[in-house]
Amino acid sequence: MGYIPFFYKEPVRDPPEETPLNTQPIIKVREMAFPRLSAPDLDAAESFLLDFGMARAHRTDDVLYMRGAGTAPYVHVIHKGTPAWIGFAFEAANREDLDRISKTDGFTPVEAVDAPGGGWRTLTKDPSGAQVEVVWGTTPVEPLGPIDPRPLNMGNAFLRIGKLQRVKTGPSRIKRFGHLAMNVRDVKASLAWYNARFGLIASDRVNIAPGMPVLIFARCDRGAEPADHHSILFGSDMASGGVLGLNHLSWEVIDVDDVLAGSSHLAAKKRAHEWGVGRHLLGSQIFDYWRDPWGHIHEHWTDGDQLDASIPPGDVTIDVGAASQWGPNPPPTFGRTIPPQSR
Ligand SMILES: [Fe+2]
Repeated sequence: MGYIPFFYKEPVRDPPEETPLNTQPIIKVREMAFPRLSAPDLDAAESFLLDFGMARAHRTDDVLYMRGAGTAPYVHVIHKGTPAWIGFAFEAANREDLDRISKTDGFTPVEAVDAPGGGWRTLTKDPSGAQVEVVWGTTPVEPLGPIDPRPLNMGNAFLRIGKLQRVKTGPSRIKRFGHLAMNVRDVKASLAWYNARFGLIASDRVNIAPGMPVLIFARCDRGAEPADHHSILFGSDMASGGVLGLNHLSWEVIDVDDVLAGSSHLAAKKRAHEWGVGRHLLGSQIFDYWRDPWGHIHEHWTDGDQLDASIPPGDVTIDVGAASQWGPNPPPTFGRTIPPQSR
């Protein structure tokens, strides 16, 4: 699904008054925190994620927590079990928001989180059955190394004088968990559900006819503070061959070399490449997609658009243009979890 053989026109922005979403959601979340998967072999999961650019934060017999180079104590959680996407966590803006949403229909009482960095959480299930957590109060950790981008000499901005650019071979430097994409039956209904509870707003819609989106890119409403172009991409199962559930998971890396050097590293490790390197149109990220040993799609990206809440949604149609601004076309398998034995 997703970016599959869809061809886009340049986005045309709607006037702001055409955003018929709830302006008073229960809370407005700040960002994504981490996803949860389950997999039968935590050794194999850890090995893939080390190649992908993460480091072990904590591991027991039943659960593996992996971190990036940034300040989050973990950015991925894998439980031992049948291969599956369990859900994900949002980060609340403050304790009051966590308490407020935990007291609404369908949410569990606030409980302490038994994981690195602690904190508190409440849980619910979305209409598709995915587990949605809201967390707050996690104690940050020291970064694993510098998380500044490498200085570049480009255009009129030469930022590196008298120093040589040497990129170490090895995995990407992952900064944070950025977004996920899910395939659902009704993208408008899914956005409305997430909007009413968490304040997500539309950034871009891909329409098969006026008012009939098959993809909605949705971001966090941080008011005047910019947010990632999308934290969740809702994709219609019309665009995924009827397959529901996880489309892909996505982590922000520190700079362009982390996308490209990371891609070389994963290729050298003979991991399963899915799509990339390219630059998306909607969201503008430079991207690269890989599959874990059970076929879950994991994305690296950098240089995405940042929008404050005043930017109205854009609309594009599926007819002419290009799925990416540059880079290869997506494979027909993109946008759904495909176990290796089925590929
Ligand atoms: Fe993505």
